[in-house]
Amino acid sequence: MLSRLPAGAFRNAGAFRASRSTWQAGSRSSAVRFASTHAGSSSSAFEAFMNSRVTLASATLFTAGTIAWYTHLYGSLPFIGEAHASHLSDAGLHPPAYPWSHNGFFDTFDHASIRRGYQVYREVCAACHSLDRIAWRNLVGVSHTADEARAMAEEVEYQDGPNDQGEMFMRPGKLADYMPPPYPNEEAARAGNAGALPPDLSLIDYIFSLLTGYVDAPAGVEIRDGMNYNPFFPGGAISMARVLFDGIVEYDDGTPATTSQMAKDVTTFLNWAAEPEHDERKKYGIKAVILFSTLFALSVYVKRFKWTTIKNRKIFYDPPVDKGH
Ligand code: HEC
Repeated sequence: MLSRLPAGAFRNAGAFRASRSTWQAGSRSSAVRFASTHAGSSSSAFEAFMNSRVTLASATLFTAGTIAWYTHLYGSLPFIGEAHASHLSDAGLHPPAYPWSHNGFFDTFDHASIRRGYQVYREVCAACHSLDRIAWRNLVGVSHTADEARAMAEEVEYQDGPNDQGEMFMRPGKLADYMPPPYPNEEAARAGNAGALPPDLSLIDYIFSLLTGYVDAPAGVEIRDGMNYNPFFPGGAISMARVLFDGIVEYDDGTPATTSQMAKDVTTFLNWAAEPEHDERKKYGIKAVILFSTLFALSVYVKRFKWTTIKNRKIFYDPPVDKGH
């Protein structure tokens, strides 16, 4: 069988092997020489440095210092648990998961609910809570028309200026103005609420359980004057009293304003306020999935098409017929 190979084949293969081994040998020897030139003073200095007691002492000192500095700043080290004499209620009752109409992958907000929720916020919550990341214009096309939003903005006076005389002046609100805060500053807000600060509501979501969760404190739990019991609030004692009662709001669209209906609407509204891009985001998401899966399918097809000749070819050796024997 071997004898049938053309003689040149062996010669070439041998030459190749030889040339490769020379090249390897050359590089190895140069690498060795390289290492040996460097193996002088610097590495022994390095070893001496690593083995010295001064290094050991300073590394220990540095580590201890870092730990001391970190605990001084943050109180405790990360990844090291602390023993607490705590009670489950310290973390608050976990709110249950509710089937919000906008939860699904393809679901947008219920905009009628956002509109009702805005009404609840304006008539109830806005007395104490600001919403200062939301401007009037944000409501346009979401829950209100441009004219409605403009009319609501104009009912509020905003400070503007300075004018030609260098004086500040008041003017009716515009679509670009932000929702007015109930208190001019944090101190005023605390003074009005027994020392507790009503948080800004632009970024909050566990609200439904909180709003509908007011109950009498269980036996044995003492709530001091001015505080209210709510198991969903961490610690259980909250300085915001129950604010939603059946019928305190009258909805334009005739929806019965029960406590839970209002809680649901205001939560949807606040959820929108926290994520105004929610509907658009899901729409883009669906478009992206459709587009990219089409492109992916196409690229799989093109790849298989281009490779088909290579993947399906069959290589076999067809020896030349030796006519000599
Ligand atoms: C009378 C004033 C007042 C009204 C009206 C009011 N709140 Fe509050 N709210 C407060 C105060 C004060 C706190 C702070 C409570 C605390 O820290 O103990 C608070 C806290 C909250 C919190 C945060 C709880 C937490 O985990 O920190 C949420 C959420 C909330 N309110 C939602 C609402 C909603 C929604 C409405 C309208 C339906 C509303 N509030 C109406 C005064 C009010």
